Amino acid sequence: MKTCISAKEELLNNNRSLWNSWTKINAKSSFYDLEGFKINKNSLKNIELKEMGSVEGKTLLHLQCHFGLDTLSWANKGAKVTGVDFSDEAIKLANDLSNQLNIPAKFICSDIFELSKKLDQKFDIVFTSYGVLTWLHNLNIWGKTISHFLKPGGTFYIIEFHPFVNMLNDDWTEFSEPYFYKGNSICSTQNGSYADTNEQFVHLAYEWPHSMSEIVCSLRQAGLVLEHLNEFSYSSFNCFPNLEEYAPDQYVLKGKKDSMPLMFSIKATYMPELIKNSN
Ligand SMILES: C[S@@+](CC[C@H](N)C(=O)[O-])C[C@H]1O[C@@H](n2cnc3c(N)ncnc32)[C@H](O)[C@@H]1O
Repeated sequence: MKTCISAKEELLNNNRSLWNSWTKINAKSSFYDLEGFKINKNSLKNIELKEMGSVEGKTLLHLQCHFGLDTLSWANKGAKVTGVDFSDEAIKLANDLSNQLNIPAKFICSDIFELSKKLDQKFDIVFTSYGVLTWLHNLNIWGKTISHFLKPGGTFYIIEFHPFVNMLNDDWTEFSEPYFYKGNSICSTQNGSYADTNEQFVHLAYEWPHSMSEIVCSLRQAGLVLEHLNEFSYSSFNCFPNLEEYAPDQYVLKGKKDSMPLMFSIKATYMPELIKNSN
């Protein structure tokens, strides 16, 4: 019997297959430096450490955790962590690392939009970071997913590449893409991985760029009140073309320091009583 799947599921299945392959490439890349992580047990950057503050004793849900390095880093800093990702390869490696390093963590393999079917818990913190939003087709559902898993008064934190970056062409020499999309996916051919561009690997990717107002409004509509929205003129990672490091973990386009927004962060508090007022 043929199984009937929707167009959206097909795109999701394609992306899951891409991330399963990228997990294997990324795990052996110097970009992720797994051996270094096994010694330092920290993959978090100074920005998120400073902006998040202490997580000691807090319950933390990490959405789109990849193979769990940041999740395990928060656990190592005293949080009781749950990491979620739709890549089974990534979740398998995250569980292996948790066991190997003896860092307690729960990992769940799920599309984040399906998570409420698999997880029944409220958290002090929902965290997500670096390279997550363009894989999500609908930010209104994303906002509702975040508030669904937060306790009233709980904290949401994201640090992410700026939507501005999505407008640049592959080698960052000109603007080639519109800032505003109307919900349609864009398809690209990925050669290698962002963590290892030399790897012989080709796969399609489907992404959904989102504007800053879409991001902020989806959170506000879900009852999340912004404590801060910060923009940064550098990337924490050397994962775009033609970047130079002008300070530790601060990469800018060569000769273009302070000229464009490369990342943003948002910290917000869940106030469920505001949901009714805003509708
Ligand atoms: C760039 S990675 C996250 C980055 C993370 N900070 C890191 O570098 O370890 C994006 C992750 O989103 C996951 N992902 C994409 N779409 C998803 C979805 N709908 N539900 C759950 N995970 C998803 C991918 O499997 C991937 O692990």
